[in-house]
Amino acid sequence: MSLYLQLAFLSILEIILLLSSPFSYAKLFTRPEDVPSRTYDFIIVGAGTAGSVLASRLSEDPHKSVLVIEAGVSDSSVSTIQIPFLASSLRQTSVDWNYTTVPQSGLNGRSLTVPRGFVTGGSSSINSMAWTRGSSDLWNSYAKITNDVGWSWDSIQSYWKKISTLVPPTSNDAITPDQIPLSNSNGPVLVNLPNYDIPPRQQVFDAANTAQDPRFRFTRDVNSGDSLGFGYNQASAGHGFRSSSATAYLNPALATRSNLDLLINTRVTRLVNDPVIQTKPVFKQVELAQSPHGDHLLFKATDEVILSAGTFGSAQILLLSGIGPKDELEKVIVDSPDVGKNLKDHPVVQIYFTVNSTDTLDSIFRNSTLTAQLLAEWQQNKTGILSDTPINVFGLLQLPDTFFTSVDSNPASGPKSPNLEMIFNAFSATPTAPAPSAGNFLSVVIALVSPTSAGSIKLVPNSTDTFTAPLIDFQVLATDFDMSAMVQAINDTEKFLSAPSWTRDGYLIGPFGEFANATTADARLQYIRNNADTIHHPVGTLKMGRNSPAQRLGGEGVVDPRLNVRGIQGVRVVDASILPAIPECHTQAVVYIVAERAADMIKQAFGMLGH
Ligand SMILES: Cc1cc2nc3c(=O)[nH]c(=O)nc-3n(C[C@H](O)[C@H](O)[C@H](O)COP(=O)(O)OP(=O)(O)OC[C@H]3O[C@@H](n4cnc5c(N)ncnc54)[C@H](O)[C@@H]3O)c2cc1C
Ligand SMILES: *[C@@H]1O[C@H](CO)[C@@H](O)[C@H](O)[C@H]1NC(C)=O
Ligand SMILES: *[C@@H]1O[C@H](CO)[C@@H](O)[C@H](O)[C@H]1NC(C)=O
Ligand SMILES: *[C@@H]1O[C@H](CO)[C@@H](O)[C@H](O)[C@H]1NC(C)=O
Ligand SMILES: *[C@@H]1O[C@H](CO)[C@@H](O)[C@H](O)[C@H]1NC(C)=O
Ligand SMILES: *[C@@H]1O[C@H](CO)[C@@H](O)[C@H](O)[C@H]1NC(C)=O
Ligand SMILES: *[C@@H]1O[C@H](CO)[C@@H](O)[C@H](O)[C@H]1NC(C)=O
Ligand SMILES: *[C@@H]1O[C@H](CO)[C@@H](O)[C@H](O)[C@H]1NC(C)=O
Repeated sequence: MSLYLQLAFLSILEIILLLSSPFSYAKLFTRPEDVPSRTYDFIIVGAGTAGSVLASRLSEDPHKSVLVIEAGVSDSSVSTIQIPFLASSLRQTSVDWNYTTVPQSGLNGRSLTVPRGFVTGGSSSINSMAWTRGSSDLWNSYAKITNDVGWSWDSIQSYWKKISTLVPPTSNDAITPDQIPLSNSNGPVLVNLPNYDIPPRQQVFDAANTAQDPRFRFTRDVNSGDSLGFGYNQASAGHGFRSSSATAYLNPALATRSNLDLLINTRVTRLVNDPVIQTKPVFKQVELAQSPHGDHLLFKATDEVILSAGTFGSAQILLLSGIGPKDELEKVIVDSPDVGKNLKDHPVVQIYFTVNSTDTLDSIFRNSTLTAQLLAEWQQNKTGILSDTPINVFGLLQLPDTFFTSVDSNPASGPKSPNLEMIFNAFSATPTAPAPSAGNFLSVVIALVSPTSAGSIKLVPNSTDTFTAPLIDFQVLATDFDMSAMVQAINDTEKFLSAPSWTRDGYLIGPFGEFANATTADARLQYIRNNADTIHHPVGTLKMGRNSPAQRLGGEGVVDPRLNVRGIQGVRVVDASILPAIPECHTQAVVYIVAERAADMIKQAFGMLGH
């Protein structure tokens, strides 16, 4: 039986189990007409990473009613979500929005698929679980951009402490006490180091510990404030399970609180302004529907609407509501030039090597007997390789000094922030590099985490709701900096792989596939254009701007530092879209921090309990 058949069988079992469970999700609605009220104090659009945090925090005050509206399905409907190793098998399934980009000229006209979670927990239910919060420089740059010290590294510590707890791996004797990170605290998201010691962990650590180039040094904790170095991945998983904002925040709150309701399978199509004239239009009405031609109903928030529909969803909803650049919209209510602009993601390219070892993870997806064994082990004991995320060890580093003409020309937020990331894996298949049917491999996933290219999202002309996907244009590798940095990144990877630990016992044999032919800078450039993708960290389409007394529009961002949408009343945006500069790290932990601070700001604004 193939893995996918097995999983289909598993989910049927799980659904039967769930249906027979008497107490789970009493407050979950699948049809708008079943929702007990049309009016709530708060309406949260999107039960994703940020939305689930807000749902939990705002419903801590029993005097406030909270409705969360989620386009996708419940995270309990797909059992694979729980299994860390199978994260990438969730793409292009019922829990993915399946977006694609417009053709990218930097990629020889290729379009990219863009996964996003279509499920409670949002993208935290389908992501690869790397757990990084950026450097102190990153957060201090946000404080500077917004002129709000509340976003500084020092200020966000109290929120960070509410989010995660480090739990021990199920079994991994290779981890020594001095390798255990210190930054996690006692929040609901579980974080663990790898459960198993998987090659090439040893080769990476030995190379880091003996490196001449300080850029390749070992680090105990990329979340210490200084993000540079090579070390273990901290994963948002624990005891063998994925830990998402649904499992950590939303589901426990739903199970215990009567003031929180969740409506799934339902898309918000736009926000509607009150007819009453105020100094600024008030947008506290939410239009929703279950299908393009189905009923479109209005729900109303008395305190606030919070958009947490993600970098694409939240921007699309504002555009559909008449809030955006006036030259792009058919009907403009508020001219807000930055809506949908400033879209950034990390470009990524993978390079492949053959290794002289049978001890790689390549065989897992080739040998169905082994797959079945591993699945049985995970089911029974929640152990085995499937309990680990696919990311075991990685490095974050700057480009060499010689790459820059001056210090100011480095787009990274500061000296503790990387330009590049290297992730070490077995063969990691992509649309342009399918997994070979035999052999053992090392792939290095190389990302440019400080890109300068910026793109946009726009509405399909004349589209009227969120059932038509927006036009997503990352402008991947559109700048000379991004292209030459990617070539340099490949060269830096080769340099890292030239350490003695890689040639020990003839481990690293040599470059594989199309990459083996890319031996000149020009050929590498072409290799990148043929094979690059993005790493699914899109941000910035509703970026936060400076605190200015006049709350002016234009060059000021879409939201103010307290995340209120400028030019209107009654709406905040809380998700990855508000980040004013792309984090030089995996983005989920950054989003959790934003959501925790936002919850606090909202509680303050409405005099609520528990801030
Ligand atoms: C495949 C993949 C791998 C990733 N790997 C990592 C990783 O290893 N580490 C890491 O840190 N980050 C990773 N990320 C990025 C990280 O998961 C995201 O940055 C983060 O989860 C974004 O949170 P968000 O709240 O902005 O949006 P989301 O979590 O995507 O939430 C948005 C929610 O809004 C809902 N929604 C959208 N539109 C509507 C609408 N019209 N009506 C109602 N609901 C709507 C969506 O269905 C979704 O549930 C990955 C992302 C993906 C997709
Ligand atoms: C994404 O694609 C899968 C597989 O085709 C499909 O089942 C799912 O419904 C799609 N998601 C959305 C939001 O349409
Ligand atoms: C497949 O995996 C099983 C179980 O681990 C093992 O016994 C068998 O030798 C493997 N087959 C091949 C062709 O590697
Ligand atoms: C689960 O763990 C027990 C105890 O270690 C072991 O005997 C059993 O074989 C394991 N089950 C599977 C399916 O691996
Ligand atoms: C959009 O609508 C306008 C006016 O209703 C029409 O002139 C235009 O051709 C339409 N554009 C597209 C792409 O359908
Ligand atoms: C592979 O490794 C073995 C021992 O580990 C060594 O004897 C052999 O020479 C290596 N093969 C290559 C091609 O390097
Ligand atoms: C590498 O280049 C050679 C010579 O041009 C060609 O025959 C071969 O197919 C190329 N290999 C790959 C994997 O692209
Ligand atoms: C990168 O490596 C290639 C191949 O060795 C070389 O031709 C090129 O000059 C290098 N580029 C840089 C920027 O070092």
